[in-house]
Amino acid sequence: MSTPSRFLIFPTEPIAEINPYLHGQFAEHLGELIYPGIFVDQGSKVANTAGIRHDVVEALKPLGVSVLRWPGGCFADTYHWRDGIGPVASRKKRVNVHWGMATESNHFGTHEFMAFCRSIGAEAYFAANLGSAPPAETRDWIEYCNFGGDSTLANERRANGQDEPFGVKFWGIGNENWGCGGNMSPTQYAGEYSKYQTFAFNYPGAPITKIACGPCDSNWNWTTRFLSALAESGHLRTVGGLAAHYYAGTAGTATQYTESQWLELLSKAVAIEGIITGHRAIMDDFDPNREIKLLLDEWGTWHPVQTGKPTGGLYQQNTIRDACVAGLTLDIFHNHADKLYMANIAQLINVLQSLLLVDENSCVKTPTYHVFDLYRSHKGATAVRSVAEADIISHGEASEGRCKNQYRDHVFSGLGRFQGSASIRGNVLCATLVNAHPTEPVELEIAVKNAAVEFADVVTLAAPDIHDHNTAEEPNRVTLTASGKISGTNGVLRVALAPASVNRFLCELT
Ligand code: AHR
Repeated sequence: MSTPSRFLIFPTEPIAEINPYLHGQFAEHLGELIYPGIFVDQGSKVANTAGIRHDVVEALKPLGVSVLRWPGGCFADTYHWRDGIGPVASRKKRVNVHWGMATESNHFGTHEFMAFCRSIGAEAYFAANLGSAPPAETRDWIEYCNFGGDSTLANERRANGQDEPFGVKFWGIGNENWGCGGNMSPTQYAGEYSKYQTFAFNYPGAPITKIACGPCDSNWNWTTRFLSALAESGHLRTVGGLAAHYYAGTAGTATQYTESQWLELLSKAVAIEGIITGHRAIMDDFDPNREIKLLLDEWGTWHPVQTGKPTGGLYQQNTIRDACVAGLTLDIFHNHADKLYMANIAQLINVLQSLLLVDENSCVKTPTYHVFDLYRSHKGATAVRSVAEADIISHGEASEGRCKNQYRDHVFSGLGRFQGSASIRGNVLCATLVNAHPTEPVELEIAVKNAAVEFADVVTLAAPDIHDHNTAEEPNRVTLTASGKISGTNGVLRVALAPASVNRFLCELT
């Protein structure tokens, strides 16, 4: 019998509280996400309340979605919020220029988005238009949403059905302004950011966090030059958060890949760790007390669009491989809970690495949905140090990232056979572990230092075939399986992780 690998947990070595915002989501006006993913028009056969789908709300409520970013993405820098308020029949139709030149009806606007957030219990995060609108648009949008007193804009909100201010806390000042948000240099953006943020006001009882556009991938130059321009102009303290983007991309297609492409994609996914540590290190030079929060408000896989779907819609299937990407990534976020404030997977429904795939007839939970469900136990708990004594099984391709930065120009130790994270809440320990190997199980000892563990409840997401995914015809092909309790001896749990699996162990420390 081979010697088991070890996952060591140090319950007395806290990292930080796992901010529930690390499990955040993103919903852009793109493809089939908003229409019909969230919202259907009057007369639709899909059950809804004021357009918002019941099946989607029912699926998302149990997850406790912590925060939802909207309305883009690239769409945000073309969006005019006034188009999406007032009587639906008179709302302007616009062209969604970034996403297939689709007609945007604007039937889903500020009030509909806030109603959706309320129905699933999510905090709202608005991305404002810096690229193609004057600062007055953002100023007015914030007043419309957040002012509780007597003003024309606040009264217009009331006339549109919302008496109390919405109290939107998070405001992105543009999106990807190095690209679709205006093709700016970091110093140009620093100037624009400073100007726009000046007019993003806190109203009584509604303080806001201003989130600046951060880098793509490992573009250290963006982070350094943006922060140094603001430090020079004395406006660094206005930055509440800096939001980086990192997509693992693809290898093969969403559902067709070899074992080596499996490893390649998972390797690219875990390279996100270097993005976090690299940018945080640069930020620490300017902001040693970490008052500026680091966000990763877009992350996930990006496969070729599914055959038969419009290319501008970014619709992709989602297999057990995407689930492993999600598990590995969330574990990295937990292990860096002291550095990262928020992260938003792209995107919630029908776009890129989504949690739900829905159409007029069905609402299917993807394997990625089940990972967010499984990992819920970590939210708000304290992340503690853990060590995976695992061999490296792949370094991935030396391919270029989306922004032409080498994936490996930052600390990247490669993909371990298994990786995980651990957290403590009271005397309950939660450990999550991904077996990243497509075909081999891992014999593992989970050793909890200085604590006695008698048993653990185990829940697993695994699939017989590495290409398995869920469809309307077979919605539960990949789903969570509770395999009951396993016993521990002297603080050690002996387990076997199935190949290509995501696992959660919950145990009481005595
Ligand atoms: O998530 C899809 C797109 O990816 C977003 O609109 C943009 O911000 C990024 O390039």
